[in-house]
Amino acid sequence: MKRISALAAAVVMTFSVMTACGDTSSSQSSNSSGSSTSSASSASSAAAGESSNASGGSSNASQKSSDILVAYFTAAENGKDDVISSASKANFNGREMGNAAVLATIISEKTGGDLFSIKTVKDYPLDYDELVDYAKQEQKDGELPELETSVDVSAYKTVYVVYPVWWYTMPQAIYSFFDKYDLSGKTLIPVTTHEGSSMADSVDKFKSLEPDAQVKDGYSVRGGSVSSAKEELEKWIDEQG
Ligand SMILES: Cc1cc2nc3c(=O)[nH]c(=O)nc-3n(C[C@H](O)[C@H](O)[C@H](O)COP(=O)(O)O)c2cc1C
Repeated sequence: MKRISALAAAVVMTFSVMTACGDTSSSQSSNSSGSSTSSASSASSAAAGESSNASGGSSNASQKSSDILVAYFTAAENGKDDVISSASKANFNGREMGNAAVLATIISEKTGGDLFSIKTVKDYPLDYDELVDYAKQEQKDGELPELETSVDVSAYKTVYVVYPVWWYTMPQAIYSFFDKYDLSGKTLIPVTTHEGSSMADSVDKFKSLEPDAQVKDGYSVRGGSVSSAKEELEKWIDEQG
């Protein structure tokens, strides 16, 4: 993180204290575990922090280049003009990207999986402190934000779902993703970035929301460590078989 405000720091401290026993490493694997459309794309285009939109049209199976989908949500691609405060951005290969986007890019490059940015119709607040409050209320309201981007998931066998922990669970946009798509029969792999909550409740949530999918143990990396997580993350991917 390049900048973190007082409120965000307080939030982070709270998260860190609450999870201190369970997460002391900078990165770790875990055994607990509008209507415009956007297609999944190769790692190179999304690595630029651009929205995935290989064809400018809706996604379809013919654009699929892999049976692996790497779907990710990151704050930095969901603010107006994709410029959410730099508090939650990392420099990866010379580019400013959201933390979850860095992890998704590493996974896509390693597996050959298609990258897909989960974007909401609405814009999230640009200011980190405002975002923290906004997301808390959104969660309290049980809102399922409408998704702007879409992908045809039918041909994918494995879906990595990559996101930041928000208020000890998944961002509401990830709940929307599970609400929108039937992922039965697929292998689902949660990957989180966080400031102390590690995987939070990811594996349990995945299992309850997609009971007919195979949910694998996930992987989590602290926000400040995503850019240096490449080697360890790639090793973990190899171990998944
Ligand atoms: C709204 C909000 C809520 C957050 N809640 C948590 C939390 O409960 N536990 C935690 O460890 N980190 C929490 N964080 C920190 C983020 O998970 C962390 O900074 C992450 O690396 C951000 O990823 P991104 O750049 O892809 O958005 C929160 C951040 C935000 C903006």
